Amino acid sequence: MGFGQDGYLWATEQTTAVKVFARQGNYDRELGCYQRLSEHNITAIGNFRVPRFVGCNDELMIVEMSIVSPPFLLDFGKAYLDQRPDYSPETIEYWEAEVKELFGDRIGEVKAALRALAAIGIYYYDAKLGNIKF
Ligand SMILES: Nc1ncnc2c1ncn2[C@@H]1O[C@H](COP(=O)(O)OP(=O)(O)OP(=O)(O)O)[C@@H](O)[C@H]1O
Ligand SMILES: [Mg+2]
Repeated sequence: MGFGQDGYLWATEQTTAVKVFARQGNYDRELGCYQRLSEHNITAIGNFRVPRFVGCNDELMIVEMSIVSPPFLLDFGKAYLDQRPDYSPETIEYWEAEVKELFGDRIGEVKAALRALAAIGIYYYDAKLGNIKF
């Protein structure tokens, strides 16, 4: 299905996707977030579909999830769980400007989704066009 900074994605024969991670830290973050979403029975954040957690393999660092079509929000490999990162005000300001530029007049929907994630302890900063699709 594709690849990114964190690893590779393959579609399975069960209409699920497996994301194979290159690094332990990213695997742990993604897994933790999907487990949190699953505990809250969340399959959508606002208008965005979120993949459903299917399973994992710690040894191989693989997370299996459902395949979603846009509008979606995914990729929790760089999300923070339960603890906000201690980004400086300047970093946050820079990030906000960047996200605003990326999403234009749909920034409101994106920010609402990120607030909803924060409400369940998921602090998501990896807002980019491949990860959040309309
Ligand atoms: N469950 C899914 N359903 C549909 N498409 C998916 C799914 N998971 C990933 N994809 C597609 O594969 C791409 C790469 O996945 P993902 O963003 O999770 O990988 P990544 O390695 O963390 O990428 P990067 O770090 O470059 O953002 C996504 O942008 C998306 O287009
Ligand atoms: Mg991504």
